Amino acid sequence: MSGKIISVQSGKGGVGKTTVALNLAASLARDYGRRVLLVDGNISTPHLHLYVKDLDLSKVTLDDILVGNVDFDTDIIQRFGNLYILPSKGFRDPDLFSVEDYRSVLYSFKPDFDYIILDSSPGIGNETIANISVSDDILLVSGPHVPDAVDIVKIKAISENMGKSGIGVVMNKVRRFGNHVKPVDIETVSGLPVLAKIPYDHSITKAMALGVPTVHAYPRSKASLEIKKVAGFISGEPPKIGLLGRLRHLF
Ligand SMILES: Nc1ncnc2c1ncn2[C@@H]1O[C@H](COP(=O)(O)OP(=O)(O)OP(=O)(O)O)[C@@H](O)[C@H]1O
Ligand SMILES: [Mg+2]
Repeated sequence: MSGKIISVQSGKGGVGKTTVALNLAASLARDYGRRVLLVDGNISTPHLHLYVKDLDLSKVTLDDILVGNVDFDTDIIQRFGNLYILPSKGFRDPDLFSVEDYRSVLYSFKPDFDYIILDSSPGIGNETIANISVSDDILLVSGPHVPDAVDIVKIKAISENMGKSGIGVVMNKVRRFGNHVKPVDIETVSGLPVLAKIPYDHSITKAMALGVPTVHAYPRSKASLEIKKVAGFISGEPPKIGLLGRLRHLF
């Protein structure tokens, strides 16, 4: 195994990177049987632990590993079936963060996993650049608003300058009505395919309140079906969305 490192990026904050990263990782692990490491790469303002009730910050975190507090190997990472999660407490002192250390930690995990998914930070600062630079591929998340689309175009350009290609765009918080950017517009400005259109959906907020991935709490919700499609695309398998899911995709 030599795990592919995929970072989930948006530029714009709050559009759904953590939601997509968590659910994509959970779906790849449970629906597609892949070994997945999900890392909170939102170095200074991590949120992943707020979305997973069973994640214990007193166990090993990215910060502990990067500042050399622990000898690390895959066995000490918190595990949920095929999904391993490395949360972060957040670096208070940016000087303690080194992109080269980050890269070597992630590369040391590569042989143990099929995929390493990085939940990246908002903006286009050092943390975002670090996440792009350690990644093999970039998955973009856009909301349905013009500034969201503008920012993914910037991220795509920066990524390409660093020799990283974009896999595609996940549109999130899509509403049926309103003056929103359309998938075809996103494809035109980004030059990338829209892999999924996740609706603005209460299954996402309810699952967040429960502290479990939406794809586990509400596996048949439209949001979950869209995320499973992305996981299928990434794993190279037909989407595991069942008959109901296939029927719902017709409408
Ligand atoms: N499809 C959706 N429908 C409804 N609510 C959503 C959806 N996607 C995300 N949310 C909610 O939007 C908020 C922001 O989502 P999330 O934390 O995933 O964004 P983010 O891009 O990771 O933010 P940040 O830039 O701060 O890291 C959360 O409260 C989340 O539950
Ligand atoms: Mg986030």
